[in-house]
Amino acid sequence: MHKNNQKVVLIGTGDVGASYAFSLLNQGISDELVLIDLNEKKTIGEVKDLNHGKTYAPSPLKVKAGSYEDCKDAGLVVICAGAAQKPGETRLDLVDKNLKIFKSIVDQVMDSGFDGIFLIATNPVDILTYAVHKFSGLPKERVIGSGTILDTARFRYLLGEQFEVSPTSVHAMVIGEHGDSELPVWSTADIGGRPLSMLLDELPNKDEFMEKTYVNVRDAAYEIIEAKGSTYYGVAMGLARITKAIMSDQNAVLTVSALLEGEYGHDDLYIGVPAIINKDGIREIIELPLNDVETQQFSKSVETIKNIQNPFFE
Ligand code: LAC
Repeated sequence: MHKNNQKVVLIGTGDVGASYAFSLLNQGISDELVLIDLNEKKTIGEVKDLNHGKTYAPSPLKVKAGSYEDCKDAGLVVICAGAAQKPGETRLDLVDKNLKIFKSIVDQVMDSGFDGIFLIATNPVDILTYAVHKFSGLPKERVIGSGTILDTARFRYLLGEQFEVSPTSVHAMVIGEHGDSELPVWSTADIGGRPLSMLLDELPNKDEFMEKTYVNVRDAAYEIIEAKGSTYYGVAMGLARITKAIMSDQNAVLTVSALLEGEYGHDDLYIGVPAIINKDGIREIIELPLNDVETQQFSKSVETIKNIQNPFFE
């Protein structure tokens, strides 16, 4: 069966999955989208609702409800299914229940003969992406987690607000766990070619601004969950960004969850790092020249993930 690299199968049509589908349609990404969910009735409703918008969409994306059989010739399978955080819950609290769900999903995808790329969004995304790599047996470059794609977007947005520039002109990254131990990489950031450190030194309240910005990025999801029950637009647009880098073979640098095998001095875990993404998945992990503080914070983030992950995979 010839693989259609422009065919996406989305598993999980809850808020995140439906927002991701809406993003693909509105941004003209990929040419075929198949939706799968245990709740077949809702999936049919999502398909109808999306197709009714096609008249005003920039591309003729074919959207349909399907089954795991549709994964056979898909280029990309995106997993948004699973339990989501409740108010007060951390992402790591979800690991046990979602691991069980993921084993079933990955087995059914692989039984179809799927030989494409997995993209995972469900939390805890670093551990679940590691699980998909283990369960599927696919090469590491073809198993990608959303990682800190959204945290980086939040960081760039807040810096853009402070320095009154578009976030697209802010080159700054958040790496580590997609969770409480993530870290902003201040030392390598720049805005319009000027080192962020120069701009920060000009602020009268530099330390306060840096702490406030870091906390706002780290705690954004908790605040949004308290306010509206869950987060979905931001992560869905991050997933669409990763999808576009794959579908358009862009070699784009994005902070995704990738498997370390010695990079940054660590191995045997998925964690948020900058990586070059193209039609084949992760082409290369970029090792940033972290300063001593960032190196320590990153190691602590690695430890946080491994402490939760290891008991499930020993
Ligand atoms: C958030 C979810 C996607 O950070 O973990 O909003």
